[in-house]
Amino acid sequence: DKEEDLKSRAPVVTVMGHVDHGKTSILDALRKTDVAAGEAGGITQHIGAYQVQMPGGERITFLDTPGHAAFSAMRSRGAQVTDIVILVVAADDSIMPQTIEAISHAKAAEVPIIVAINKCDKPEANPTKVRQDLLQHEVFVEEMGGDVLDVEVSAKQGTNLDKLEEAILLQAELLDLKANPDRAAEGIVVEAKLDKGRGPVATVLVNRGTLKVGDIFVAGSEWGRVRALVNDKGQQIQSAGPSVPVEILGLNGTPEAGDEVVVVENEARARDVTDFRIRQ
Ligand code: GTP
Ligand code: NA
Ligand code: MG
Repeated sequence: DKEEDLKSRAPVVTVMGHVDHGKTSILDALRKTDVAAGEAGGITQHIGAYQVQMPGGERITFLDTPGHAAFSAMRSRGAQVTDIVILVVAADDSIMPQTIEAISHAKAAEVPIIVAINKCDKPEANPTKVRQDLLQHEVFVEEMGGDVLDVEVSAKQGTNLDKLEEAILLQAELLDLKANPDRAAEGIVVEAKLDKGRGPVATVLVNRGTLKVGDIFVAGSEWGRVRALVNDKGQQIQSAGPSVPVEILGLNGTPEAGDEVVVVENEARARDVTDFRIRQ
């Protein structure tokens, strides 16, 4: 893509951390800050990817990582889906095995970390200990003389979520994220399932280009024609541009998390690509 075709896009943020440290709770709480959420009737769907719009109009795309499986799969395929990792650490528990694992995932992918010190409402919370423990894993927060942003939050009480969002937008500005929306779409499968009523459904994050209803595409070793696109608020939309997570209907089979999605010119081409991938 030529420099002049690039337009700024929303940061894609993956929330990682030890089991039960509050990843999903933080995502749910952040989602409540979405100024556009009211319009859809406030139904919170539990899909692994969604976008929040700030009062100032800025958008942030969030991905949940149950068990890191999707993130590992995506990383192993070299896909650059995540711009920023939110490392969730419970202030009463501090660093645990999956915290360390998440740190090494983020470092291997060379993705900047923002630390969300969660559960600060608990009497036994010790955020200072969390900052100190992070030193041993070479995560140096500002208070410890480093440049990693950290925010003390409580997902339960909704405390400091605005500060967390500010930290994300600050980090995103430094990254100067851009993509060309005016080309055939490319993206990545975040999660996929076989839905009883709707058939195979894949949640896809578009990296570049714009995905449209009617597009013929390949997703891993499956292909399809986009029958419908459903956004994170359950609304049918006609197209999805860079950093927009969307459910795709119209697949012939169920792809896997981490599979690459590419729009192709016709069905014959889609069959060629998938045949080739299946044989590999
Ligand atoms: P897994 O996806 O299973 O790894 O867990 P998770 O990291 O998504 O944690 P989850 O959001 O499911 O929260 C785990 C437990 O911690 C739940 O019982 C939450 O209610 C509780 N919890 C989450 N955030 C807070 C918080 O800020 N304060 C308190 N006191 N409890 C919290
Ligand atoms: Na949990
Ligand atoms: Mg969870």
